[in-house]
Amino acid sequence: MRIFLDTANLDDIREIARWGIISGVTTNPTLLAREGKNVRDVIVEICEIVNGPVSMEVVSTDAEGMVREAREYVTWHPNVIIKIPMIPEGLAATAILAREGIQVNMTLIFNPNQALFAALAGAAYVSPFLGRLDDISTEGMDLIREIVAVFRQDAHLDTQILAASLRHPRHLVEAAKAGADVATCPPAVIRKALKHPLTDIGLERFLNDWRQLEATLTREVARVS
Ligand code: E4P
Repeated sequence: MRIFLDTANLDDIREIARWGIISGVTTNPTLLAREGKNVRDVIVEICEIVNGPVSMEVVSTDAEGMVREAREYVTWHPNVIIKIPMIPEGLAATAILAREGIQVNMTLIFNPNQALFAALAGAAYVSPFLGRLDDISTEGMDLIREIVAVFRQDAHLDTQILAASLRHPRHLVEAAKAGADVATCPPAVIRKALKHPLTDIGLERFLNDWRQLEATLTREVARVS
């Protein structure tokens, strides 16, 4: 499973991209609004940092407007792909954009039929929102499992399953086990997933032992010279 970063924060993207674990970035209007900067500048900067798909979401709610926005956004940078919401007009826009070779990430997916429709319309990615389902006392991960099963049953579907709305590190590993192609992850979740107290304790011990060895050897050299 590949990992995308789910943020528009350039500092976080710069820092985590250095770790070599990120294959793309997803943004949405909320994440971009949080940064309060010129949207085009932010998206282009993200594309310069991460060599992979960077999702930019349309805000039109009619197919014509979505297609117009999408055609404009893809001129910003070759890494830009288009996020389209799962509504009937979104499907119509996705069908047009897919025919033009523009990659669509169909977002706000909450049931397997929506995922199937997105795939049939030609979406390159479907984004099921795990955390938002968990928030309403539903098992979000079941949705990933169902979509995986539905897509596996049809060899012609090459749409990738992009697990979204991840809230904690278990979501990441469970999404991978469920068969998601990609998981898009907020920086805070990546940082938590990276941390383990035994790693920190182990490193501290290794470094202490090393320092003690150096001190012993230094004393030994001083003694014989
Ligand atoms: C996905 O592409 C969305 O940007 C994101 O995962 C939504 O997550 P949220 O439910 O935490 O807002």
